[in-house]
Amino acid sequence: MIVLGIESSAHTLGAGIVEDGKVLSNEKIMYPIGTAGIIPAKAAEQHASNAGAVISEALAKAGLSSKELEGVGYTMGPGLGPCLRVGQLMAKTVAARLGIPIAPVNHALAHIEITRHLAGIEDPVVLYVSGGNSQILGFDEEPFKHYHVYGETFDIGVGNMLDSFAREAKLNPAWGSSVAKLAEGGKYFMMPYTVKGMDFTFTGLLTHSIKMLQSRSAKDVAFSMQETAFAMLCEATERALLLKKKKNVLLSGGVAQSARLKEMLSLMAEAHGCKVYTAPNDLNADNGAMIALVAEKMIKAGQQARIGECTIDQRYRVDRAMVGWK
Ligand code: FE2
Repeated sequence: MIVLGIESSAHTLGAGIVEDGKVLSNEKIMYPIGTAGIIPAKAAEQHASNAGAVISEALAKAGLSSKELEGVGYTMGPGLGPCLRVGQLMAKTVAARLGIPIAPVNHALAHIEITRHLAGIEDPVVLYVSGGNSQILGFDEEPFKHYHVYGETFDIGVGNMLDSFAREAKLNPAWGSSVAKLAEGGKYFMMPYTVKGMDFTFTGLLTHSIKMLQSRSAKDVAFSMQETAFAMLCEATERALLLKKKKNVLLSGGVAQSARLKEMLSLMAEAHGCKVYTAPNDLNADNGAMIALVAEKMIKAGQQARIGECTIDQRYRVDRAMVGWK
């Protein structure tokens, strides 16, 4: 089955095509973050003006015509309302014009499932880390097939913390990879560390780090903040791994691109004879192929939707999304 997936939940407008689980193309056009972060209305405006171009590029890269598409999926949520709306309208237009099935996809589930699909593993502990979310999850059959959230951030996502710090430190672009670059060679000093069981918080760490920019070198602050945040994630993931008696850790989402987080998580997992799996960076970042992959699984499992029922939900939690194919 050939399926087009459209991702538009934040700064990335992505169109990807998969055929029976194989990625044929994965094109994206990004809204420039600069030092100001994402302005939702402006990002949505840019997504709308690139809507046709990104789908044409995805089709051209895959060597297909639009008539060969057999299904379409889009990000239903979570995400920024104006941005989600663009992807929803693009997918509904494609589905109506071609008369093909449509599937509204949970963004977090797409990150998790593309990583699990590539790794070829069945039942991992998942650390899902992105701008808007940070969660530790595992598959559960009751009361329906879904990813159960064992623990999560009580306030902001770790990516949001890194991006907010990057803006305060005037880094350009203001996101996590700029913080990682600044942190190289930094020295550690004590920071607020908050883990409660398998839950955690990041706003105290962010507030303290921003305050410390006035008295310590930005390099040392970036290093100490990043080490502390990642150590918190590793501690909570380790607890889930042992309590739930799992053998593998899946690291997914935008912040999974961090080499240091991968390294720290691998050290923790190896100490328990476990392995960490993550996707290549272009598939960890927001992209259309992960939406196409889950849309294909949903359609094959009978989880397609009527065009008139295709909505968006800015707060669509991953534990509400049915995983009928597992
Ligand atoms: Fe994402």
